[in-house]
Amino acid sequence: MKKRILFVCLGNICRSPLAEALFTKEISLRGREKEFEVDSCGTNGFHNGEQADPRTRANALKHGVEVTSISRQLTVGDLHDFDHIITMARDVYNGVLPYANTPALRSKLECWEVPDPWYGGDEGFEKVFHIIDSKVKNLLEKV
Ligand code: 4NP
Repeated sequence: MKKRILFVCLGNICRSPLAEALFTKEISLRGREKEFEVDSCGTNGFHNGEQADPRTRANALKHGVEVTSISRQLTVGDLHDFDHIITMARDVYNGVLPYANTPALRSKLECWEVPDPWYGGDEGFEKVFHIIDSKVKNLLEKV
């Protein structure tokens, strides 16, 4: 059985698409792609259908990582379909909680503390890259 991992942020254009790309990179470096299904989404649908933010994509490319996901909004089904649901910040976690209306669903949730780079400059995207890069490596050790 594949382990299904879902990364969630607010808009699904900055943090969670990068987490999806970096986790995917780590599993492919280890030849473990077949063990996982990886996806990302946002608690809001403001950017549905859009590519990740150009700043996220440009910064990741500097590190040789392509971010290819297309923004979509979280659904009720996601809580059932995925095994591990990782929210990028507390406000995101709070946005997911109403969908997780049983203890079993809530036990799938994990909350990271990744600052939202949306309103800041390029250095914020670089900082977020390193935070997420480190966190996905830790995650892969334990899932
Ligand atoms: P993300 O960043 O949640 O990491 O994708 C944001 C993207 C867009 C907005 C906020 C945060 N927004 O307000 O549109």
